[in-house]
Amino acid sequence: MIKLVDICRTYHLKNQDVKALDGISLEIPDGSLTAITGHSGCGKTTLLNIIAGYDRPDSGLYLYDGRLVNDYDERQMTDFYRHEVSMIFQEFHLLPYLNVYENIRLPLHYQKRRMNNKEIDAVLGQVGLRGYGRFCPHQLSGGQKQRAALARTLVGEVRVVLADEPTGALDRENAYNIVKLLKGMKEYGMTVVLVTHDEDIAMMADRIITLENGHVVS
Ligand SMILES: Nc1ncnc2c1ncn2[C@@H]1O[C@H](COP(=O)(O)OP(=O)(O)O)[C@@H](O)[C@H]1O
Ligand SMILES: [Mg+2]
Repeated sequence: MIKLVDICRTYHLKNQDVKALDGISLEIPDGSLTAITGHSGCGKTTLLNIIAGYDRPDSGLYLYDGRLVNDYDERQMTDFYRHEVSMIFQEFHLLPYLNVYENIRLPLHYQKRRMNNKEIDAVLGQVGLRGYGRFCPHQLSGGQKQRAALARTLVGEVRVVLADEPTGALDRENAYNIVKLLKGMKEYGMTVVLVTHDEDIAMMADRIITLENGHVVS
């Protein structure tokens, strides 16, 4: 379980300080699909970056399965990235010169695991991309790239998946499909945190956390 206690994060700009997170306390239970929602600039991405371990809070506690992530050293952080928490980026971060098979194999390399094309085909089937293994990212539509990124996350077998506005660039139908896929990740025992400013999308989650000016308001 993820537990945040009174997390603060301030960006120091030349002429002013921006309090992006101003005392965030929340819990994210294992196996849940949680939506984090709120207007642009309320701190959603900052919060996700802290949960991902890419950024550290100025103050407050980040507990992961009861262990204090604030105190993790570099080795513990590396383990955390490889096995525990994975971010799906809005821009997908597929490598343009690798085909879908090769992109999907990337996280396996760091985990010293192997999968052949046939095994990856099974995962591609789950995300509706059967037959696309040899395609390169530029040959895929936005929705297909998103699904390839999801497939890569699935084979990574991490426990927590974070998605920052994953439906932002998609039409309604593809957006709903992505959320359905994220919901499906629960079947694999994954915990999913989805950031969205779209209320209809948020309604598909098990729980909704709403932010306003760096505070949790509901
Ligand atoms: N790297 C940064 N440097 C300075 N200010 C930032 C940075 N990232 C975000 N901010 C500011 O922090 C606040 C929260 O930003 P963000 O977490 O990106 O919000 P959201 O994702 O909800 O749109 C905003 O006021 C934003 O301008
Ligand atoms: Mg954002």
